[in-house]
Amino acid sequence: MSPQPDHPPAGDFEQVEVVTDRASGMQAVLAIHDTRMGPAFGGIRRRAYASLEEATRDVLQLAAAMTWKCAMAGLPAGGGKMVLLDHEGLDRPAAYRCIGTFVASLGGRFSTGPDVGTTDADLREVCSRTRHCANPDAAGPGDLGRATALGVFHALLATAQRAGIELVGATVLVQGLGTVGAPLARMCREADARLLLADVDGARAQALAAGLGAQVVDPARVLATPCDVLVPCALGGLVDTAAAGSLPVRAVCGAANNLLASAEAGRVLHDRGIPVAPDFVANAGALIAGCLHQLNGTRVGDDRITAIGRTVDAVLGESSRTGRPPGEVALAWARSRVAALPHRPYVGAK
Ligand code: NAI
Repeated sequence: MSPQPDHPPAGDFEQVEVVTDRASGMQAVLAIHDTRMGPAFGGIRRRAYASLEEATRDVLQLAAAMTWKCAMAGLPAGGGKMVLLDHEGLDRPAAYRCIGTFVASLGGRFSTGPDVGTTDADLREVCSRTRHCANPDAAGPGDLGRATALGVFHALLATAQRAGIELVGATVLVQGLGTVGAPLARMCREADARLLLADVDGARAQALAAGLGAQVVDPARVLATPCDVLVPCALGGLVDTAAAGSLPVRAVCGAANNLLASAEAGRVLHDRGIPVAPDFVANAGALIAGCLHQLNGTRVGDDRITAIGRTVDAVLGESSRTGRPPGEVALAWARSRVAALPHRPYVGAK
């Protein structure tokens, strides 16, 4: 299930601001959702939004989701996000520099980094103006794709165990073989799972399958292919309510954000006895590594990331006890962790 309610009201946020720069054509929106746990973390998404309203709706949802993700990862950080409205004629380097200047003015209340549409080159422009941005050139937090994959792998182990699946010899279908899916597939292979791989980039799937002794599956047949664990690592919204009713799998655990298209899909799978690791808990590895590196200047050990497996196990246990789908359990826990804190927003040092 999605970690964010649809269209959370702007009044629930600490700060929502439209930032513009006429010279570069830059129009961006910042949302800081909640900093009671610590400074807000969230990347910059660049997209050709249809309107400022659409961009604002997106940034509100994304920022709130970051708060719940930080809460479940036990991070001393809260949720924020920026979106940059892309359009023809945008002076991209100058726009990212303006964003950097704006982020600097927040004095550490908001720390940013990559998201869809923002490249290392863009981040360098931001970093030329502020230190509150993940620097792609510095001795950084390490391989973030691997960090996410490691967290998802441990979430997968916990989910499989709850479903009564022994990973050795189990059939694991990984959909999407990019930054996260490829290292995750390797980890599953090392655990002696039987691998099925699917990617719209057929050459990528073939190459990885050859190296791992795996079988390639038609990406259009992912939802119809029987397997023990389905591992979505491509786009969100893979499993809708109709698909949930007939999915031939015993467990679901992947990196894709919002892998369930709706809360209803989560309920259908839950009623069928199929455990689903909440995506925003399972895929927090990069956030944990990035955030703690930004705050402490040190790389986290693997044990900080593999702990995601214990969190997922606890969520699935509570789900079994209460009869509530795991996504709902995780979201309720995240909300109650934040709600228990005094209303004292983080004040950065200029
Ligand atoms: P990526 O862009 O590196 O890889 C995605 C892969 O999925 C590509 O190989 C692409 O060809 C494939 N793909 C796209 N549509 C597909 C389809 N319909 N069927 C099969 N394959 C398809 O992305 P990345 O970074 O590996 O992220 C994967 C998912 O995990 C995304 O949903 C992302 O939001 C999420 N995620 C990623 C994190 C990270 O650290 N990179 C952190 C948290 C979440």
